This record gives sequence, structure tokens and C-alpha cells, in this order.
Amino acid sequence: MSQYPALRLRRTRVAAWSRRMYAENVLTPADLIWPMFVTEGEGEEPIAALPGVSRWCLKGIVEQARQARALGIPCVALFPNTPPALRSEDGREALNPDNLMCRAIREIKNAVPEVGVLTDVALDPYTSHGHDGIVDAGGYVRNDDTAAVLADQALVQADAGSDIVAPSDMMDGRIGLIRSALETNGHSNVQIMAYAAKYASGFYGPFRDAVGSSGLLKGDKKTYQMDPANAEEALREVSLDLSEGADSVMVKPGLPYLDIILRVKTAFEVPVFAYQVSGEYAMIEAAAAAGAGDRDGLVVETLMAFKRAGCSGVLTYHAPHAARLMGA
Ligand code: PBG
Repeated sequence: MSQYPALRLRRTRVAAWSRRMYAENVLTPADLIWPMFVTEGEGEEPIAALPGVSRWCLKGIVEQARQARALGIPCVALFPNTPPALRSEDGREALNPDNLMCRAIREIKNAVPEVGVLTDVALDPYTSHGHDGIVDAGGYVRNDDTAAVLADQALVQADAGSDIVAPSDMMDGRIGLIRSALETNGHSNVQIMAYAAKYASGFYGPFRDAVGSSGLLKGDKKTYQMDPANAEEALREVSLDLSEGADSVMVKPGLPYLDIILRVKTAFEVPVFAYQVSGEYAMIEAAAAAGAGDRDGLVVETLMAFKRAGCSGVLTYHAPHAARLMGA
């Protein structure tokens, strides 16, 4: 029997004050992690594939971090565009304590210590073949050799002042190796955010342009990143990364994998972050430019979807814009 008209769910939606009062989730600037690209040289290089996003020189990146602080964004994520001459088969520039990434970490922590710095651990911005690790003669990314180098890379970043190291490579066993390298080298308070469920996705295209690896990449990343067909496997990845010492886990990309976010949150009750990746950003920008949707509305709605699914926060290129929309 219908309970209408006693029950009218539209009643609480009539007025703006009431909608606000009944909102089950809220977005604040503290939900945002702002990914930024750093480059050698001077000034700003707009990234064609990511309208509104630029690569910044060291001075510019510090200025961006100051903006993050002013907007109440707690953390920035750094990605380097390594000069081609420094890219090599084994990506050894990743271990140079004076590489672009380490200089950016030091300058930001020096100028804006209140802002958290998250750094990507993977070799793709440093390799001449664009893969995230050491490849063998057949082009296969060698797991254990790569994981060992990643532990060294994480240590170099922690020494430079990184607050959160974020391995995005999907090698098996790397979280444990990184955790013990950090513990035995005086970095017990450096966090690990594991890219735990990272899918072999078509949505990373603009990012690869931004870090300059798209023209270099040989083949694809399907032998290490996850198959979009799989969900149970994501739970196994998360379980392993947590048991090896991850402080938080990430699901990536974001919007096409909301089901994974919800399942991870429900199964493990740990902090989960989503990466709304470059292709998702570009899709929203393209829709807005084509008049197919309102940019501000799409930004807020997609970010709210992550909160609703259970995320503690979201890495998004829309971070500064979103923070302003939230009144920052
Ligand atoms: C690589 C890495 C990628 C992204 C973050 N770290 C790309 C890839 O796996 O090829 C993608 C982020 C984005 O698309 O915004 N280790």
C-alpha cells in the first residue's frame, strides 16, 4: 500500500536551506589534492591537451603551491617533465637527488611548508621508452628489479622532503620494499599512498603529453596496470598494499571506476583516494567548450560523486577552480 501523501520525498527539496540541511555529503577544499607539472627553464608552458593546465618552472611551481595554501588545498602532487637528454633506458635520473622533482620538493617545502607534497614514484618520466620500470630485451617490465629501484627513488624523494610517496607503477611487492627503506632511513613519518587499483586506461593520454612520455611509449602498460574487466582483483591489490604498509590507497582513473571505490571502501574501511585523471579533466573541458554542459556544475557534480562513493579526497586538475567554487 502506498504511503503517499503522508510521505513526500520532495518536501525536503523545496528550499535551498533545506537541501543544504539534508545534504549527506559536503565538499570542501580539504578534499582536494592538486596535481601539477614542473619543467626546467623559465615561466609557464600551457599543455595543449589539458586546456587551463600548464607546466611550470621551479619558481612558478612554488607560486602554485602558495595558491594551494591560499585556497585551503592541503596537498599538491608533483610530476616532472624531464629534459629528453636526461631520459635513459634505465631511468637513472629518477635517483638523482638534484633532479627536477627533488628541487621542486625542496623549494616548495622551503617556501610553503604548510602544504603537503605528494610525489609520484615510477620511472616513466625518466625512461627513454616511457615505461614505468626496467624493461628486458622483449619489452617486459621486470618486476623485482624495478621494485628495488622504486624503493631507492622513494628514498631520494623523502630525503628531499616529500611528505607522501605515491607509487604509481603497479609492480608487485613495492609497497613493502618502500616502507622498509623509509623506516630504516629515518623517514618513519613519510606516508605511502599506494596507487593500488590502477587500470590500464585510455584516459591517461593528456598526462603522457604533459610529462613528455607519449611519443616515447613503446606498446602499452597492460602487463602491469589492471584490466578494466576486473573488480575482485582490485580488492586483492588493495589488500596486499595495505598489508605491506600503505597508509592510504588510490583508485585510478576515477569516474569510470566508482564501483571499485565503493567496494574498496566497504571492504576495508581505510582512506581511499580517487585520481580524476587527465582524460577525465579533458572530457569535462571539451564538453563545456562544446556547450554540452556547464563546466562549474560538471566539476562539482563529479567531485561530489567521489565523496558519495566513499573517498577521503580526490586528485584533480580542477582543484584550484573547484576550491574557488566552494568559496575559498
Ligand atoms: C605514471 C602515471 C600516469 C599517471 C600518473 N602517474 C600515467 C600512466 O600510467 O601512463 C596518469 C595521470 C593522469 O592521466 O592524469 N606512472
